[in-house]
Amino acid sequence: MNIHFNSKTAIVTGGASGIGEACAITLAAAGATVIIADLKKADAHKTVDTITKAGGKAHSVAADVADDRAVKAMVDFAVKETGGLHLLVNNAGIGGPQTPTGEYPVEDWQKVIAINLSGVFLGLRHGLPAIDKSGGGAVVNIASILGSVGIAQSCAYVAAKHGVVGLTKTAALEYSAKGIRVNSVGPGFIETPLLDDISDEMRDGLVALHPIGRLGQSQEVADLVCYLLSDRASFITGSYHLVDGAYTAQ
Ligand code: NAI
Repeated sequence: MNIHFNSKTAIVTGGASGIGEACAITLAAAGATVIIADLKKADAHKTVDTITKAGGKAHSVAADVADDRAVKAMVDFAVKETGGLHLLVNNAGIGGPQTPTGEYPVEDWQKVIAINLSGVFLGLRHGLPAIDKSGGGAVVNIASILGSVGIAQSCAYVAAKHGVVGLTKTAALEYSAKGIRVNSVGPGFIETPLLDDISDEMRDGLVALHPIGRLGQSQEVADLVCYLLSDRASFITGSYHLVDGAYTAQ
């Protein structure tokens, strides 16, 4: 299946690592000019280097997705640098502590919600009007399998990801008529730096939860994201797409 994003500008938040990095590289390989927005500017620049060495076009911008002004500046940068905005991947996210709800620290709750849920809202708040002004396009919000099922010890993460699925449906209803599609993606557990800190025992436990018998790869998520952003997915909006090795099929 041929997918092209020639003459399109894409923003990928959290594009310095893991799933976001794979999305940025895949979008650029298909012709998009990619703005890699991340807290870690130096790491974002490494993704830019990878893309430009492969013949693609990319820029990095430092942005905290939890900061309204920073997200506005990120979108303004994309429009000023490339002349418009057509595609947006709201991907930046953190895990948060593993703690029962009754003991979950309020500061951690606020931080996880600020980045994983409000960050997506802010991306939509500033990104949708810019995409509209540029003639339409598509957005993918990275949720999780934990946008449809729970898991113990991660109340803020689970609440945020369920919120992302709802936010996606609302934005899709509002912007479909303007030619902007909005979808969410629910990955199972994926081999990225987000899982660096878990023990071997916990990793084995996670593998056992995926009937396919392994964890996922960032590229397997990026391929779905790029399909959803492309014109090949022209009738798909407002929906939640799992890429989870049958984790939630059980
Ligand atoms: P990662 O840790 O490899 O990459 C996350 C990136 O987001 C990093 O570059 C980090 O600097 C950036 N970031 C963090 N906070 C930020 C902020 N406030 N503003 C801007 N950038 C920020 O993580 P991974 O695994 O690639 O996760 C990406 C997304 O996928 C997250 O939303 C995560 O919740 C989601 N996800 C990950 C899964 C996994 O198993 N790895 C499974 C399901 C969903």
